[in-house]
Order: sequence, then C-alpha cells, then structure tokens
Amino acid sequence: MTADEFVAQLDAQNRALLERLAPDATLKPEVAGDLSVVNLLKVALKNELEATEIAARWLVTTAELPVKLALARQVGDEARHYRLIAERLGALGFVATAFDPLAKGYGPLFAYLDTLPSTVERVAAGQFTREAIAIVKNRQFIEFCEAAGDEKTAALYREVIEPDERHHHELGRTLLRSLATTVGAQEAAARASRRTLELAEELQQQALAGAGIHHAPGC
Ligand SMILES: [Fe+2]
Ligand SMILES: [Fe+2]
Repeated sequence: MTADEFVAQLDAQNRALLERLAPDATLKPEVAGDLSVVNLLKVALKNELEATEIAARWLVTTAELPVKLALARQVGDEARHYRLIAERLGALGFVATAFDPLAKGYGPLFAYLDTLPSTVERVAAGQFTREAIAIVKNRQFIEFCEAAGDEKTAALYREVIEPDERHHHELGRTLLRSLATTVGAQEAAARASRRTLELAEELQQQALAGAGIHHAPGC
C-alpha cells in the first residue's frame, strides 16, 4: 500500500470509530451541577496543557525537521488555547490562575503518548488521531455551549480553537503521508492510532460514569 492509500484507509477507519465517541445522551446543560461550561473548560485546561507538553517533549526528541517545526507551532497554539480558555474562565467568574490542572497528575493518554518512540507513531497518534478526536469533541462542545446560552465560549471554540485543531490534524495527515512509507511504519502508525482512540473512548466512558461529564472539549 502506498503512504497515501494507507493514510486514506486510516482516516476512514478512524472516522468510523469516532462515531462511538458521540454519546447518545441528549445535551442537557446543568447550570448548578457538574455538567457546566465552567467545569468542562477546566477539563479543557488540562487537555491543552497536556497537548502543549507532549508536543514540547517530542519537539526536542524528533529529528525530522518538518515534524520538529510542526510540533513547535503546535506548542505555541496549544499554549495559546490554554491562555484563551483561562481568560474565558475568568470572565465566567472562575480564577484559573489559582487552578493547577495537573494537581492529580497527567492522564493516561498523555502517559501513553509519552512512550511512543518513533516519529511515525507520534504523528499518527498525537496529531492525526488525537486532533481528529478534538474536532469531533469540540463540535459537540460548541453545541453544548449554545444549548447553555453561552455564545461567547461557543464563538471562542468555533472561530479560534477549532480551526487550529483542524490545522494540527491536517498537518498530521501531510506528515504521515511522508512517513508511513513502509509496511513496518504503517503497522506501527495504525497501532498507535488505534490505541489513542481506545484510550479516548475509555476516558470518555470513565468521565461519563464518574462525573457525568460528556462533551468535554479536546485539543
Ligand atoms: Fe488545543
Ligand atoms: Fe491541537
């Protein structure tokens, strides 16, 4: 299979699996309960911080120049998302400067991504797949914000954050086409991508069962 064929196939498989991330539960924003825009934005802060840090770690330990530069841009983008979300939280009455999203440690998806040794696996998992998940989750979150009457948070995601995450995903597609050129590389990439989706699904189920949280944004 050529690299282009492989990426097209992986994309189709991922899209089919991503439909499972869409919860059946209808959108029911709770003004005072756990499922509020503020609580979901706190989850978003952790996601953005982890996305910033994994891209930064890989930037240092990845040799291929185009990937290094893509990761450098991603570090900046994810850190900017963190700041914008923190500012939005401030406007909603939550002081994010006193909040440590890593107080309970890094999450399992971060821990998994941090173990990936090769560039093709990193690009497949961290950019091509994780950012595809983000596109789906952010679309759900935008709908959630609109249902909650929070047009400003919806606009932040629709106009600023979502286009960046889409760019990261497309960058992942381009890089993967240049990296997934052998059977071995394609197998490794497919494995890393699948594990990323599994972890995202497990995390979503845990969040749903534990705190009733769904529609948390991704990055
Ligand atoms: Fe982000
Ligand atoms: Fe991103």
